[in-house]
Amino acid sequence: MYNTITTELKDGILEITINRPDKLNALNQEVMKELALAIDEVYKNKDVKSALITGSGPKAFIAGADISEFLTLSPEQGAELAKRGHVIFQRIEDSHKPIAAAVNGFALGGGCELAMACHFRVASDNAKFGQPEVNLGIIPGYGGTQRLVQLVGKGKALELMMTADLIGAEEAHRLGLVNHVTTPAELLDKTRSILQKIHTKAPLAIAKVIKCVNNYFVYDINGFETEVEEFAGCFATQDLQEGASAFIEKRAAKFRGE
Ligand code: COA
Repeated sequence: MYNTITTELKDGILEITINRPDKLNALNQEVMKELALAIDEVYKNKDVKSALITGSGPKAFIAGADISEFLTLSPEQGAELAKRGHVIFQRIEDSHKPIAAAVNGFALGGGCELAMACHFRVASDNAKFGQPEVNLGIIPGYGGTQRLVQLVGKGKALELMMTADLIGAEEAHRLGLVNHVTTPAELLDKTRSILQKIHTKAPLAIAKVIKCVNNYFVYDINGFETEVEEFAGCFATQDLQEGASAFIEKRAAKFRGE
């Protein structure tokens, strides 16, 4: 079905693997189109409860946008490239189902930006993160100038983007760029186990948490108002009836996302 990615549905998790290991999984336009289709499946397929994005091979998550596509672009085409990337990564960030990055090696440029668009990141101890675009005479174009600031703060984000320094998984963890660091062998299972834990919670409440937290970063929306609206909406759900009843009856809740 796809040329540059693979997808597999395992226990409710759609595992999306960027599959160009000979090019360190660089994001060319075909990958971006196929990734967009896979994200559509996360939104639409009722059997998909969450998603995990990783890279194929032992070396790279994603080593950036495909540099070979840059040389012939005009400024107008550059704008189109960035806008297309923004739409896809925004769909990841706005997904009502959790999407995790399992970072198994280099996460550079667009790779770091893709990981940052996910709801959380788990990295193997050999992972390396960076926004090295200024080495090439460009800047991050898939949301990196915004999301890196959100995750690590302005000073460190500026330093990373201006020096093009790469940092290891432990440093990324210390900065808040990644949530957990594992061995390469444990990476996928650790990521899956967090998603499986989320699967046991009320799906509509999870979607509302994602929406409220994302709205913290939208300048013309008051996130507190969003929280009131979304909190109120919980009282119209079966999930709340089930969750509260299960607590009172001292049994495990069985949520249906209704
Ligand atoms: N775009 C296109 N091709 C890329 C790529 C990218 N972002 N990153 C790596 N590749 C390709 C290389 O050209 C090479 O292809 P080739 O074998 O046909 O020559 C292959 O992937 C392997 O990469 P290589 O550079 O030989 O591996 P390395 O282990 O020596 O170095 C990196 C690894 C990640 C340090 C290095 O590939 C790199 O700096 N990549 C670019 C990172 C970057 O600037 N990303 C931001 C882009 S906006």
